Amino acid sequence: MSTQQKSFSSSLGAIMAAVGSAVGLGNIWRFPYTCGKYGGGAFLLVYCCFVFLIGSVLMMSEFIIGRRAQHTPVKAFQTLAPRHKAWGLLGLLGIITSFFILSQYLVLSGWTTGYVWDSITGALASLGTSAAPISDYFAQFSAHPWRPALFLVIFAVLVLVIILCGVQKGIETFSKVLMPILVLLILILCVRSLTLPGAVKGLEYLFSPDFSKLTGEGILAALGQALFSLSVGMGVMLVYGSYIPVNENIFSTAMWITVCDTLIAILAGIAIFPAVFSCGFNPAGGPGLVFCVLPNVFNTMGTAGVVFSIIFFLLLTVAALTSAISLLEALTATFSEHTHSRRYVGALLFFLLTTALGVVFSLSFGTLSHIKIGGLTLFDFIDQVNSIYLPPICALGTVVFLGWVMPDADVRDELSNHGTLSIRFYGLFRFIARYVAPLALLVVFVSGIAM
Ligand code: PFF
Repeated sequence: MSTQQKSFSSSLGAIMAAVGSAVGLGNIWRFPYTCGKYGGGAFLLVYCCFVFLIGSVLMMSEFIIGRRAQHTPVKAFQTLAPRHKAWGLLGLLGIITSFFILSQYLVLSGWTTGYVWDSITGALASLGTSAAPISDYFAQFSAHPWRPALFLVIFAVLVLVIILCGVQKGIETFSKVLMPILVLLILILCVRSLTLPGAVKGLEYLFSPDFSKLTGEGILAALGQALFSLSVGMGVMLVYGSYIPVNENIFSTAMWITVCDTLIAILAGIAIFPAVFSCGFNPAGGPGLVFCVLPNVFNTMGTAGVVFSIIFFLLLTVAALTSAISLLEALTATFSEHTHSRRYVGALLFFLLTTALGVVFSLSFGTLSHIKIGGLTLFDFIDQVNSIYLPPICALGTVVFLGWVMPDADVRDELSNHGTLSIRFYGLFRFIARYVAPLALLVVFVSGIAM
């Protein structure tokens, strides 16, 4: 079956699936600690500028390319630039990026799945309220020879099953069910966090701008986070774009997704920091914030803490699930389009490959920690490749393609649904796609490798 025959059944389905891709560990795990680290409100301000000015334009670009071409990334670029087939390499790079991001994403998702289990069995609750046993537990959990791998495989099987159910019955249906659950879970946590004594200090930490902490590194982190959080620069939104119904308004769809993604990241910060401050913990927990600091916070809440712990890690797992689905879908759809094979062949193949690689990355916290590339463990190495190198290159290529290679008339036609929608914002969109976004991405890339 070719991609052209597939599509989301409704606009709501398309929005939910794309929001599902965007909202993930990036919002709930990475955004809060990055925001806290680089100056709270100051970071938020820069992040919002990047998300709305550059991220949303990139998302629209991927939607336009995908829907116009009705193909997966490699063929999409080749179809829209028939005399410059080499653009297909950009699509290939996007798909390679999705492959590595999924392999790495599975490791973190395996941890969140493991923490759901450990919350249910009471293993986390039994650690008490002092920081050391909880940090030790996380270190032992991530370095264990088989436990993280087991949870990784369980999570990956869930992703595979949903992909095998298909675009409408699998991705769309699950996203429509899972996303409202996710919003509900996060709201419950926000209410709990905000009603704790001293919660206001957490809000101050998150929102009051401290421009002295907003370094050049912080600005780069904001752009990197914006790309990652919106799932752009990996070909995933391009594939989803090819599923967007023809009468759907690409501009408003992308804007809705951007707004939802940003709101959920902010809500995650509201759910986490007031609780952290209220319980007297150090907010600068870095990447270990949700795995080391939060269990500690939950354990100070008695029995209710067990329930909140289950809700929180379930929330993380659900968010990760819809993101991982989009990554496996991009790989599956591309493979089946190129090999003319049935979907399950590609889904199974990439499930096996990314799971195997994910297990290797996971073992780099324990059994394989001695293997280093450029002084970095395998996980840290792939993390660097996935944040500094691949996505900015793909994102840069995509906006350059849209702004400079694709005929202006085609872009207008696609954005206006063949002239049926008014596109008053078009001048600004084109200006950003041609000049602002390429320049910003170039700066990120060059400074990223120079750092
Ligand atoms: N946007 C997801 C998150 O914030 O966790 C991660 C992600 C999903 C990145 C899909 C890239 C992608 F293609």
